[in-house]
Amino acid sequence: MIKLISNSTDETKMLGRKLAPHLQKGNTLVLSGDLGAGKTMFVSGILSYFGKEEEASSPTFTIINEYELTNDLTLFHFDVYRFDFEDEFLAIGGEEFYDKGICLIEWGEKIQSYLPHEYIKISISKDTEDENKRVIEFTPIGNKYESFLSEVFK
Ligand SMILES: Nc1ncnc2c1ncn2[C@@H]1O[C@H](COP(=O)(O)OP(=O)(O)O)[C@@H](O)[C@H]1O
Ligand SMILES: [Mg+2]
Repeated sequence: MIKLISNSTDETKMLGRKLAPHLQKGNTLVLSGDLGAGKTMFVSGILSYFGKEEEASSPTFTIINEYELTNDLTLFHFDVYRFDFEDEFLAIGGEEFYDKGICLIEWGEKIQSYLPHEYIKISISKDTEDENKRVIEFTPIGNKYESFLSEVFK
């Protein structure tokens, strides 16, 4: 697990931007943390690396936002906050997206049974004293991401 501190919205975006060039088709990131923690800010940092930041918004109502990053790379940004049941993910054919591109899933812990076997878990927590401070923890789930994270944050 890699634990980092962010002291501003921009620092959180920069962390996303730093991770972005390492992402490939088939990679999944699961983002957890309270409302307003900074999950969407992290995603917009990733999108900014690909020149798509202006479009970033939480797909709270649409569930999935899709971005064509390059000719053969698509990013799927999910927000499953509104799901009451895990099976709603099946109903939207969620699992079919894993192989098709990069999947970023806000509130992914709500669909625990349908997450891929390997993914990077990113937990963001607010600080009780400083409203701009966040603790961001990156945990590799599965062997595939062990070296990935140490490569990104070396
Ligand atoms: N260090 C920080 N990292 C991320 N966001 C921060 C930070 N400090 C303040 N913020 C603010 O907190 C809010 C996070 O919003 P958002 O990313 O939409 O949260 P979430 O998607 O987790 O609900 C934004 O208004 C952002 O400007
Ligand atoms: Mg959000």
